[in-house]
Amino acid sequence: AVFILTADYIKNRRPAYFPPGPWALPLVGNIFSVDQTKTHEILTELAGKYGNVYSLRMGQNWMVVLNSFEVLKDALVTQGDSLVDRPEFPLQDEVTCGLGVVFSNGSIWKEQRRFALSTLRYFGLGKRSLEPVILDEFTHCANEFRGNKDKPFNPHLIMNNAVSNIICSLVFGHRFEYGNENFMKLMRIFDEALYIEGSIWAQLYNSFPQLMRCLPGPHQRYKHIWNDVKDFIKAELKEHKQNWDPSDQRDYIDCFLNEIQNKGQAENSFDEESLVMSVLDLFVAGSETTSTTMRWAFLYMAKYPEIQEKVQAEINRVIGQSRQPSMEDRANLPYTDAVIHEIQRMGNIVPLSLPHIVSRDVQLGGYTIPKGVTIIPNLTSVLLDKNEWETPNTFNPGHFLNKEGKFVKRAAFIPFSAGKRVCLGENLARMELFLFFTSFMQHFTFSMPAGVKPVLDYRLGITLAPHQYEICVTSR
Ligand code: HEM
Repeated sequence: AVFILTADYIKNRRPAYFPPGPWALPLVGNIFSVDQTKTHEILTELAGKYGNVYSLRMGQNWMVVLNSFEVLKDALVTQGDSLVDRPEFPLQDEVTCGLGVVFSNGSIWKEQRRFALSTLRYFGLGKRSLEPVILDEFTHCANEFRGNKDKPFNPHLIMNNAVSNIICSLVFGHRFEYGNENFMKLMRIFDEALYIEGSIWAQLYNSFPQLMRCLPGPHQRYKHIWNDVKDFIKAELKEHKQNWDPSDQRDYIDCFLNEIQNKGQAENSFDEESLVMSVLDLFVAGSETTSTTMRWAFLYMAKYPEIQEKVQAEINRVIGQSRQPSMEDRANLPYTDAVIHEIQRMGNIVPLSLPHIVSRDVQLGGYTIPKGVTIIPNLTSVLLDKNEWETPNTFNPGHFLNKEGKFVKRAAFIPFSAGKRVCLGENLARMELFLFFTSFMQHFTFSMPAGVKPVLDYRLGITLAPHQYEICVTSR
């Protein structure tokens, strides 16, 4: 044992030129000294002790945590070319096999990201816009809400269904009824997979893959669960191929099939396997995130009724009750827009973004970070920074308004991260949040059940989400 510990100490001690950081235990490093239930808070506190660029060792891997707007901008934007890649994720890599967008690198990532961005743009604008799809989904969602007839209910599942249906409409060209058996099964599978992904099991697997492969635990089911989702997508793909018309691109799958045909035999990353993986990525990255943000929105509105009233008054003035909101209304709803931004800032739902890896030595915060080190962009350190926001820990739409009540953009608002890997679905997410939120505010008032106070505590899993709660909605 002494030999192993000494060997580990010699092999893994912090290199002299490395950013400082807390003392790391032999073998496991800092993995157990960072409380998994509030990792982002601890990593933000450590910046106060060690500075905006510091290092940690997770298992055998050195990581550098980046804090503050200046440092993140320098790393992700100015020196973005050297930080564009993802590190290996042994657990996720078993499912993705290097394909898709979220975990891929190199030419596969470049091609798939470019294609996904242009396809999302295609469905964001003009006659193919997802705007009517989102508004239609709202009416289904609103019917479910009304079905609770002023009684307290948990909005989690309904919101997950609604947001997942937007991705279904985008990729499959159709939505599902919330009671549809296949859809319900898909939702349950996602829940289980995302639970494992956000758990300590995933972290242990990614730090000690060889060991964890042999040990029992929920991580053993991970690959099988995602295979079920892949089968679901493959069944949709089969149907698409049967009635495919290259001149009519109904959805993401149609566009991808066209791309496979257009690229032909030349070497490229477009085939059916990568189609399935790209679609799966859009589900994973695009459902839980938007749904969690909406669940924070309901809670904040119930907690701050005076803010909710101001939003409703603005919507009454600009849109009224007789027509549905549209994206064109956003410019005329500065207060509502500011509230949505503040929900995202305080909700801070992806608090540590996704890891990047250094592909050539870089200088950050006065330190040389060598090739191969994993980077954690700590978005929390920016979204809740006391140097950036007047009241960083208080819900205050004024952060996004000037003295005349006009909406103002803030550079430190980076819930979607920044640079070359910036969230690919940012525009879609913003459209969904705006249309859903204004529609909800137009039709309902949210409040807590009698005698219950809103709890703004979070649960850290795949996203930073509110604890499960029940809420009351009253029709307006
Ligand atoms: C990546 C946030 C919604 C698709 C990311 C990243 C963040 C993020 C922080 C990591 C960026 C980085 O690595 O530096 C959010 C938030 C959302 C949201 C806060 C909603 C409120 C969506 C939606 C979609 C989507 C609706 C798709 C339809 C993606 C994809 C990536 C990504 C594909 C990986 C990009 C890449 O690796 O190149 N998102 N996201 N996201 N997001 Fe989102």
